[in-house]
Amino acid sequence: MAFSEAFLQELKYRADINTVASRYVNLRKSGRGYVGLCPFHSEKTPSFNVFEDTQSFYCFGCGAGGDVITFIRRIESLDYVDAVKLLAQQCGLEVPEEGVDNGAALLRKKILEMNREAAKFFYATLKSLDGAPGREYFKKRQLAPEIITAFGLGYASAKWDSLLSHLRSLGYTEEEMLAAALIRQKDGHSYDQFRNRVMYPIIDLQGNVIAFGGRVLDDSKPKYLNSADTPVFKKSHNLYALNFAKSSGSKTLILCEGYMDVIAMHQAGFKNAVATLGTALTPEQSRLIARYAQDIIVSYDADEAGQKAAQRSIGLLTQVGLTVRVLHIEGGKDPDEFIKTHGADKFKLMLEKCGNHIEYRLTQAKAKYELSQPEQKIAYLKEAETVLATVESAIEREVYAGKISEELDITKDTLLHDINSMITKSSRRKGKQELRTELAVTRGLQDRINPEKGRYLRAAMAEESLIVLLYKNPDFLKTLDTIITPEDFLTDFNKRVYGAERDMIKQGGEPDLASLGAVFTPEETGKITSMLVLRPVSNTIEEARDCANVILQEKLLKADNGVDALDKLNELRQKKLGR
Ligand code: CTP
Ligand code: MN
Repeated sequence: MAFSEAFLQELKYRADINTVASRYVNLRKSGRGYVGLCPFHSEKTPSFNVFEDTQSFYCFGCGAGGDVITFIRRIESLDYVDAVKLLAQQCGLEVPEEGVDNGAALLRKKILEMNREAAKFFYATLKSLDGAPGREYFKKRQLAPEIITAFGLGYASAKWDSLLSHLRSLGYTEEEMLAAALIRQKDGHSYDQFRNRVMYPIIDLQGNVIAFGGRVLDDSKPKYLNSADTPVFKKSHNLYALNFAKSSGSKTLILCEGYMDVIAMHQAGFKNAVATLGTALTPEQSRLIARYAQDIIVSYDADEAGQKAAQRSIGLLTQVGLTVRVLHIEGGKDPDEFIKTHGADKFKLMLEKCGNHIEYRLTQAKAKYELSQPEQKIAYLKEAETVLATVESAIEREVYAGKISEELDITKDTLLHDINSMITKSSRRKGKQELRTELAVTRGLQDRINPEKGRYLRAAMAEESLIVLLYKNPDFLKTLDTIITPEDFLTDFNKRVYGAERDMIKQGGEPDLASLGAVFTPEETGKITSMLVLRPVSNTIEEARDCANVILQEKLLKADNGVDALDKLNELRQKKLGR
């Protein structure tokens, strides 16, 4: 399938990459482009870049890159044709229809249409004579008519084929209904998936109805039934009510466990509440949250399951750079019940005074111990130290250590000393781990850009460091030229990069990505950028000398023993690292 060149040109002209990417990423101006947190992988410091001049994006962290169409394909998980159509629709451009549809896109469109019809049908049923049980249920849960309408809530009647006959009368086939997960089949017999349940449509950021959750009216099981994954729905990639919450104007989102919690919160004026869809929080969902918020308040049920789930979500949420706070609801309730019993104002107060996750974890730990007993006090301190060792900022560590030392009458210095040695130990472990990973990665999956890296690993790592050192310290070249030349490099790609940097400096310039980009392909430039971003250097001439010496040593080894000996050596090194 091909769109005409003219159409694509017009589309690219209208769909400015910065405008499009800004819908998904918080971008801020930086140098000749914009930067933000990458939507394609988890990160804390922004490495996702948008370049207006070339209308392209590139993430220095994960290597994702391309033009505006690639961006939409990746972020919306669409195929090429659907991505083009979505873009065209967003900038009011007519898509030339003939021949553009493929089967998969047609089916997606059909499913979305059916879902919308189903949502309308459930809503109409709720308002109809048949809908009395549903209306009663919502009344019991104190939902106002406006909120029922806003969320498009509905009711699926107890009959076996209400929706089925309705959709059939609109011309949809059972095959299509099955694909939408709206009906089920048993022994060749078709029947409605949702019966005698109140219905919660799940709506995506474009306003499409992508799935449903249905709740029983009594205590029977399963309490909630959710649509299976379909071509338009992936449970793990969506959040309930994000379509409303994203335009709440708040930099904070509240993450709940249940649909009813979210709806109760919206009704009480907290329009920034969202929920996972009946699963534990996933990495995709936490990235989705980071696209729209800077802070997150985890507001799960007060029961043990809820508190455990809250604990588990903290890691995922901090990983994407969010400031995490955890709400602890007093009185063993979920947010919905709390608001009903104590009112929205009291809930708001609780939100305002809720601490961040460190404080929360310390409080949780403290509750486990009887602090008047010496052994228990020690056990608590050990646990508190473990928590504080995860805090990145030294000032924050000081503050918390100060608080604990006052509470428990021990010196702050002792605490900090313990914490610091924990941190040193874990970073040493991490250093080893990194080398091990690098070994595994380069040995297993070949480095496509520098295929020789696996063979000459120690040399290649020193070469990369030297490339970064020269890039950041062009003044080192004079000294380096007396020790090493590009010809000494063992891997061809690194030789070319070092050589190019050297040429630029010799011609009176400085190496930078833009000029390197003119010499190397986008993929190669990506690789160079990854060195710059990922390889830590100390910017001292001593380090540069060390790197040069490693390269020269490895070159001698290669000359003396040939390639086989090097392979053996690499194996030995891996063994030593405990693999
Ligand atoms: N859930 C689910 N399947 C179940 C139970 C729960 O998918 N069998 C999901 C639903 O999304 C639900 C959320 O987990 O909203 C939280 O579950 P729970 O705390 O049991 O429900 P509440 O939100 O409290 O629901 P309600 O107040 O209606 O009882
Ligand atoms: Mn509840």
